[in-house]
Amino acid sequence: MKTALIILAAGKGTRMNSDLPKVLHPIAGEAMLVHAMASGAPLTPERTIVVAGHGVDQVRAAALEHDPETIVVEQTEQLGTAHAVAQAAPALAGFDGMAVVLYGDTPFIQAETLNRMAEALTDNDVVVLGFEAADPARYGRLILQGASLERIVEYKDASEAERAITLCNSGVVAARADLLFDLISDVGNDNASSEYYLTDIIGIARDRGLSATAVTCAEEETMGVNSRADLAQADAAFQARARATLMEDGVTLTAPETVFLCRDTVIGRDTLVEPNVVFGPGVTVESGATIRAFSHLEGCHVSRGGIVGPYARLRPGAELAEDVRIGNFVEVKNAQIAEGAKVNHLSYIGDAHIGARSNIGAGTITCNYDGVMKHHTHIGERVFIGSNTMLVAPVSVGDGAMTGSGSVITSDVEPDALALARAPQVEKPGMARKLFEMLKAKKARAQRGS
Ligand code: UD1
Ligand code: CA
Repeated sequence: MKTALIILAAGKGTRMNSDLPKVLHPIAGEAMLVHAMASGAPLTPERTIVVAGHGVDQVRAAALEHDPETIVVEQTEQLGTAHAVAQAAPALAGFDGMAVVLYGDTPFIQAETLNRMAEALTDNDVVVLGFEAADPARYGRLILQGASLERIVEYKDASEAERAITLCNSGVVAARADLLFDLISDVGNDNASSEYYLTDIIGIARDRGLSATAVTCAEEETMGVNSRADLAQADAAFQARARATLMEDGVTLTAPETVFLCRDTVIGRDTLVEPNVVFGPGVTVESGATIRAFSHLEGCHVSRGGIVGPYARLRPGAELAEDVRIGNFVEVKNAQIAEGAKVNHLSYIGDAHIGARSNIGAGTITCNYDGVMKHHTHIGERVFIGSNTMLVAPVSVGDGAMTGSGSVITSDVEPDALALARAPQVEKPGMARKLFEMLKAKKARAQRGS
């Protein structure tokens, strides 16, 4: 069936104690809203509607950045979850498919769970996702009669007997879009919170003789984020799952609990990741690479056989071809490093191309920024850049060329040439000994005087 996602994200998130809208706080480097949007992606939705309120402009920007087709609607006053869903009605006028309601602060609903809900909808008018809560606390309670879901009662409105129920409402609901909005139009706000509860649609549907049921999932999937402590817990849960998946996929993590991943991190089989490595967004590492300890990677690509680190930093646009070696205290940004090239020690390579099998000596810097603009450095194949070379961009070094250690290279170097750009060495025989004697005498005089 055609599917639309309605993602509720208008709430303030008071307990985050933040200027940033709650749903934009990151889990594994990406806004929790993006995780929520991605959690619904396996249903291949035709439309995704995000209902925003607090921080609507920021929320809109984040939603559109992740998926430019997203429809963001504004809920100016937060009058309850039913009222929030109703804001999506105009965007779904005439849509004859299933609508699935997700929360922007509940980022981990699994594809398999949503598929089970879609399947249950073939025999039911409304399907709710429930879970057995270890501590049911203030969740809404699901009132079942056999397999039939009769109604949902909010904690505040529940009797003692109802509060004893441990099967709770996750908030995820699926129904045909037209029916969903029709049911919502009957929801009132005569309850303990004076809010329009989405949960009331179950009782309304049953009163109309329609059918409702609950599909259940593990509690960790329905984990919501309300505070910074929840955020940290959600991140930890995400990391634990992502590490386990990588290891199942044939990646060695020497100390998995010290490796931090993003939702989109891709690492190939038989790659080794040593302890204390951080993967930011947009990293792909091919098979058989080694990422050594204490490295930080984002927006980069490491090809087969590459060795990175220890203590390396790969920034956005770092493109490493096969068998490239990036060593300790090397930073690479927006640069292509061709096959077999080596940048082993203490270097900055930014806005550059380094040709195949070139060797970049320790302490080399591409001086890419003149204070106003960025400039490109091109280094050919089989080049040997001497230690502590400053490459003042824009500049290029031809194939097979060499630069002398300590050179400041400001103009292009021809292929096969040796470029030396440093002060010639001056030597004064015996001068060091004289200088030492002079200094020692001066020190002795000063000590006598005091
Ligand atoms: C809701 C459910 C409850 C369920 C719980 C699960 C209702 C009435 N109750 O309660 O049964 O156990 O979630 O976490 O649905 N939102 C809006 N606009 C609004 C109100 C809420 O966008 O006017 C958004 C919030 O930003 C949040 C989500 O909807 O993402 C849930 O709202 P929240 O107020 O947290 O609902 P709960 O009281 O937790
Ligand atoms: Ca909540």
